[in-house]
Amino acid sequence: MKRFILGISGASGQAIGVKLLRELLERNFEVHLAISRQSLPILEQETGIKYGSGTQGEKALRGGVRGGKLFYYDETEMSAPIASGSFRTEAMFIAPCSMKTLSAVANGYASNLLERAADVKIKEGGKLILSPREMPFSAIHLENMLKLARLGVTIAPPVAAFYHGPRTIEAMVEFFAGKLLDQAGIENNAFKRWRG
Ligand SMILES: Cc1cc2nc3c(=O)[nH]c(=O)nc-3n(C[C@H](O)[C@H](O)[C@H](O)COP(=O)(O)O)c2cc1C
Repeated sequence: MKRFILGISGASGQAIGVKLLRELLERNFEVHLAISRQSLPILEQETGIKYGSGTQGEKALRGGVRGGKLFYYDETEMSAPIASGSFRTEAMFIAPCSMKTLSAVANGYASNLLERAADVKIKEGGKLILSPREMPFSAIHLENMLKLARLGVTIAPPVAAFYHGPRTIEAMVEFFAGKLLDQAGIENNAFKRWRG
């Protein structure tokens, strides 16, 4: 079973993280999920998912997807497996990625589990994919992204495309999640591709 890390931080666009999680589970992957505390009220406000720990929380996040294995960690669980480079995973996503988490990752300031797991991915030379969301970006945000891009981190913000003819917010979210899966080399039909 392939293993992935998914971080969800407190930026707008929580539905992207939820969709990505479901896509990973649908493929029968093992997903290690770390949701920042700051994201919980935003998750509830934007998606209606009231996350509580334990099976209720898992049920809400899965939204009917049965496959895969889901491990959830609070951001304070610094002794979770994903905090160590000895725990091998295919890739890590942070989607959506707040400017605070982006800054922490860019500066090696691992103050919570998401940030530590990302720090580990970079030090181990692994695949790290961030989906930073803010509008507009300041020079600080852009410098942090550039610094990470130069280290080999994939910066894949939720920038909408229109060539696939999206008519709904769901279609936009599917596009963002599909593009993130693409970056990790995961085959998917989450969105309508351009065929020329
Ligand atoms: C409704 C709401 C939406 C937010 N959207 C964003 C956002 O899109 N991008 C961002 O960088 N911060 C956003 N924030 C601010 C972050 O939640 C805040 O900086 C927080 O400290 C991030 O912490 P975390 O990265 O540990 O989750 C938002 C806050 C709220 C309440």
